Amino acid sequence: METVFSGIQPSGGFHIGNYFGAVQNWVEMQDKYRCLFCVVDLHALTQTYDTKAMQERVETLTAELLASGLDPNRAVLFAQSHVPEHSELAWILSTVTPYGELSRMTQFKEKSEREPENINAGLMSYPILMAADILLYRATRVPVGVDQVQHLELAREICRRFNSRFGNVFPEPQPIHTKALKILGVDGKQKMSKSLDNSIQVSDDPEVIRKKVKNAFTDPTRLKKADPGHPDTCYVCSLQGYFATPEETATYHDNCRTASWGCVDSKRALAENMVKYLAPIREKAAEWKAHPDRIRQVLGDGAQTARVLANDTMDKVREALGLYK
Ligand code: TRP
Repeated sequence: METVFSGIQPSGGFHIGNYFGAVQNWVEMQDKYRCLFCVVDLHALTQTYDTKAMQERVETLTAELLASGLDPNRAVLFAQSHVPEHSELAWILSTVTPYGELSRMTQFKEKSEREPENINAGLMSYPILMAADILLYRATRVPVGVDQVQHLELAREICRRFNSRFGNVFPEPQPIHTKALKILGVDGKQKMSKSLDNSIQVSDDPEVIRKKVKNAFTDPTRLKKADPGHPDTCYVCSLQGYFATPEETATYHDNCRTASWGCVDSKRALAENMVKYLAPIREKAAEWKAHPDRIRQVLGDGAQTARVLANDTMDKVREALGLYK
């Protein structure tokens, strides 16, 4: 069975874009691959954050992952910082990583612009740690969204460079391109992102969801209800399909196109379907959150399993490097 590795940053809970773009795919992969899913808290250190909030963020994320269907009996779920070999391997891989490529990474440039007062070396070596995450488990398949394709390409190059210099230690990881999802934020302009304050979180309360959907961006060419809508380009219509059946969605789109529904009606349908769809996840996550000891147990068990695999790889790496025994 092939090994899958993927990581998610602990920015607290996740939003519907993360859910449909990543987490839902992970849940399906549990049946087909040996899966490791990692809460990448070390990656999170590259941006300014509140140290007091970190515990909570990891727990919330883990609770929501479990509530979404990640199953500790079928996947290894753990926190990156619990397996120190990630950092060790990252250092080693940094010695075969071309500096020029790091400085050319799109995300490095973007994040540097977003936080110009904190352009740290970790921000630049971020993709090396990512390569270490993957190679440490000799994972061959990595589900990635479009924004991580460039990082995975670099991980593959790092892998090839290591192997050609030190022998074939790592299989070259291949991407699993998850459906090219582009869920925009409720502003209808930028990518959905918690930090841009335009997201709908899977654990948002029904009232919060209703309010966010009510204020969501709609077709600016539709000035009054009697104007026919354009479901193909309307933001609200683009989300309907995620939460309603294909038949319902087709009806909603028709209602919009024929102006029998105004945007307010479309939004109401979207909000109610969203509330209904997300309720079981929100409730299960709340149950996990009420038992932090159980979350701790899951992550502890996961880290133990991961460390066994990591140690095995590191033995091979040290041997290949010729480090003093
Ligand atoms: N950088 C990824 C993101 O922000 C998270 C990540 C860290 C990751 N390590 C990984 C994804 C390894 C895939 C494989 O989405």
